Amino acid sequence: MIISINKASGYVGKEVQIAGWLYNKRSSGKLQFLILRDGSGLMQAVVFKKGVSEETWGIGEEITQESSVIATGTISEEPRSPGGFELQVTSLELVQKAEEYPISPKEHGIEFLMDNRHLWLRSKRQHAILRVRHQIIRAMRDYLDDRDFTLVDPPIFTPNACEGTSTLFETEYFGSKAYLTQSGQLYEEAAAMALGKVYSFGPTFRAEKSKTRRHLTEFWMLEPEVAYMDINGDMDLIEDFMVEVVARVLDKCGEELKVLERDTSTLEKVTKSFPRISYDEAAKILQDKGTGFEYGSDFGGTDETVIAESFDRPVMIHSWPADIKAFYMKRDPNDNSKVLAVDVIAPEGHGELVGGSQREDNLDELRKRIKEHDLSEKHFEWYLDLRRYGSVPHSGFGIGLERTVGWICGLKHVRESIPFPRMMHRLTP
Ligand code: 4AD
Ligand code: MG
Repeated sequence: MIISINKASGYVGKEVQIAGWLYNKRSSGKLQFLILRDGSGLMQAVVFKKGVSEETWGIGEEITQESSVIATGTISEEPRSPGGFELQVTSLELVQKAEEYPISPKEHGIEFLMDNRHLWLRSKRQHAILRVRHQIIRAMRDYLDDRDFTLVDPPIFTPNACEGTSTLFETEYFGSKAYLTQSGQLYEEAAAMALGKVYSFGPTFRAEKSKTRRHLTEFWMLEPEVAYMDINGDMDLIEDFMVEVVARVLDKCGEELKVLERDTSTLEKVTKSFPRISYDEAAKILQDKGTGFEYGSDFGGTDETVIAESFDRPVMIHSWPADIKAFYMKRDPNDNSKVLAVDVIAPEGHGELVGGSQREDNLDELRKRIKEHDLSEKHFEWYLDLRRYGSVPHSGFGIGLERTVGWICGLKHVRESIPFPRMMHRLTP
């Protein structure tokens, strides 16, 4: 019977099979120590020359790194072995002998590893990141599912530019043109008017021509949208959501965070309440530190890092200049130059994780903004309908999955937070 390595504790003294790959091995004349991995963990398989057939011994000698193998034997406890258990091998079946494996335990350059991403995923560190990513997705979705949000999937092909026209991926669409979606938001607004509380979760695309450690051209975003919720409700929701997601990962992914050597003390501080400061206050922090920041412009990566350094947990920045924000954001009734938007900046230099806002719900105002932003009016008629038929105040936000994974795992670059990253200079593997 084939068992998973991480279930070994239930099979002590029993004969089982481990089906996996050779991670590493050492041998003396009489003994072979094969470290096997099966995706669930690592286990040492011990082969005694005297206790096995010549064929099995020969396989143990011949087997190379990443060869696929099925080992039969008895499980015993062995505190010194990775995972705490060992397999006393009775026979080995070689499924495929691997060619010389390109990724060895020595250090490799990042471009080499990225070119071999399809193989690099087999390493311990990448396992840990992928597991944390999986847990974050579960936590995010559970949070919303448990609160009666409905998942509504937006399209990927769209005629609408949601987040500005400079980062659109354009594609030919039966004689006309379509874009790959930058955000599901506009569709979630329609869904919120139908179902009240909704969210989308899927890939989004931006032709980011910048080579930074925070930008991908294809990234996953989770976007909740709620009818009858204002910007303050939006900030409360973001805060509650983020606190719960981080707590869940700390609870479930202790082992993975250890592999990643993540200092979890900073994550443990992610509790209520997050500081809430205005754009003006954030700008003042930068000016006081003499960073050369120009009031009225957007914060760059370094600005975000400097602002974050003043706080020990994620910081929410609200009341943004309308000029640097998207067309759909509602103006602040107390200051027409500002919009009711919020960005959440992560601690430790991981940058903007969340962008959210209250949406413009007045038909004439919204039509004016669409014109001002030079957007194709005919493609926004359907969106304007949402303001014609029972318009209500509503708000939502988008959280970038890869930035969140990068932050929680403590990664220096967002490229490791997604299985197969897409960036300006990378389309393979
Ligand atoms: O701030 P953004 O552009 O907001 C929106 O797209 C809104 N329509 C969301 C909404 O209100 N429903 O993007 C949201 C988040 C960012 O804060 C960031 O975490 C992530 O998406 N993001 C990126 N992540 C990786 N690579 C990129 N190029 C990203 N651009 C945005
Ligand atoms: Mg943003």
